Amino acid sequence: MTLILGIETSCDETGAAVYDLEQQRILSSVIFSQIKEHEKYGGVVPEIASRSQLEKINSIICASLQEANVSIDQIDVIAVAQGPGLAGSLFVGLCFAKGIAWSYNKKLVGVNHLDGHVFSSFLKGVFTPSNNLTIEQNIGFPHLCLSVSGGHTSLYLVKDFGSYEVVGQTIDDAAGEAFDKIAKVLGFGYPGGPIIEKLAQQAGFQDYFHYPRTKPRGQEVFFSFSGLKTAVLYDLVKRGAYDLNVGPIVQNLTDELKQQVASSLLVCIGDIFVNNVKIAFKKYPNIKSFTFVGGVACNKYLRSRLELICNKYQKNFFFAPPQFCTDNAAMIAFVGGYKALKNEFSDLTLDVKI
Ligand code: KG4
Ligand code: ZN
Repeated sequence: MTLILGIETSCDETGAAVYDLEQQRILSSVIFSQIKEHEKYGGVVPEIASRSQLEKINSIICASLQEANVSIDQIDVIAVAQGPGLAGSLFVGLCFAKGIAWSYNKKLVGVNHLDGHVFSSFLKGVFTPSNNLTIEQNIGFPHLCLSVSGGHTSLYLVKDFGSYEVVGQTIDDAAGEAFDKIAKVLGFGYPGGPIIEKLAQQAGFQDYFHYPRTKPRGQEVFFSFSGLKTAVLYDLVKRGAYDLNVGPIVQNLTDELKQQVASSLLVCIGDIFVNNVKIAFKKYPNIKSFTFVGGVACNKYLRSRLELICNKYQKNFFFAPPQFCTDNAAMIAFVGGYKALKNEFSDLTLDVKI
C-alpha cells in the first residue's frame, strides 16, 4: 500500500489529505479556510495568510491522519504544493513537508498547484462512472480543461497526467479576481464569487447592462477581465451609485442594482467562457471530453452554460464538486501519487516556485 500525505498552503487555505495510491481513493481531506480573517480587507492579505498557515499546519496534518485512520509511520510519500501562490504561505507547507520527510525518512514530491486543479476531476468519488470504465478512460486523453480561480484563467489541452499545453489564458486579471473586486465595489467581502452568484440568481441571470465582452482574436483562445472590471465600475459611476474618490453612494446603490450588476457580470463572464470554448472545440475537433475546475467552477450558472455548449458539440462534460474545486490537498496528494509512480521525487533542496 502506498499512502501519500498531501499538503496545500498556496494561499489562504491550509489543507492536508491522505491518498491511497493502490486503491485510488482519498482517505481524508481536511481544510482550514482563513476566509473570515481576510473578509474585512476585501482580499487576501499575504502577511496574515502566512502567519495563519503557521498556526494551523500542524493540527490540520494531524487531523487528516486521524480522519484517514493512519499514523505518520504508515505514510510513504509527502506531496507538497510548491507553487504558484503566495511565497510566505507556500514556504510554511514546504518547510513542514521537508521537516517531516527528513525526520521520518519519507520520500518527498513537489507538486505544481495548477496541476492539482487540472487533475482534480479525476479524484475518485468526484465522479462515479455509471459504466465499467475507469475515470481515466471516461475522461480520456487528450481532453480540454478550463481552470479558473482567483489567480488564473486558463484553457489547457491535457495530453496525459502531468502533460498539458496552454491553449489560451488571461492576459491580465483572472475571472475569480473580477468577481472578488466587483463584489468589493458593491460593498461585500472576500471571496466575491459566491455572493455574486447569489445576487445574480435573485435577478434571474439576465443580462441587464450588457458589459463589453472581449472580442475573440480570430481563432485564438484568450481571456481578459481587467477591462470588464473597469467597465462595471464606470457604469456604476454613470448611474450615480459610485464615486471614485469616496466609494459607494449608498442611497443609489440599491439591492436591486447590486443584483442587476451581479447578474450582468455573471452572464458576461459566461459568454466569454462559452465563446472561447467554442473556438477551442473547433481547433481540436477530435477531443471527447471537457473538464471545468478551480474555485470558480463552484458556480452552478457557469457550469450549466459550459454543460450546454458541451452537449451541443457532443463533448462529455466533467467538473469537480465544490470541496475539490477550491484549494484542497486531495488534488495535491493525487498528483503526488502519479509523480511517485514515475519516480519523480524531490530532495531537500526543493524550493517554492511562485
Ligand atoms: O481555487 P481557489 O480556491 O483559489 C485560488 O487558487 O485562487 O479559487 C478562489 C476563487 C475566488 O476568486 C472566488 O471568488 C472564486 O474562486 N469562487 C467563485 C465561487 N466560489 C468561489 N466564483 C464564482 N462563483 C462561485 N460560486
Ligand atoms: Zn487554486
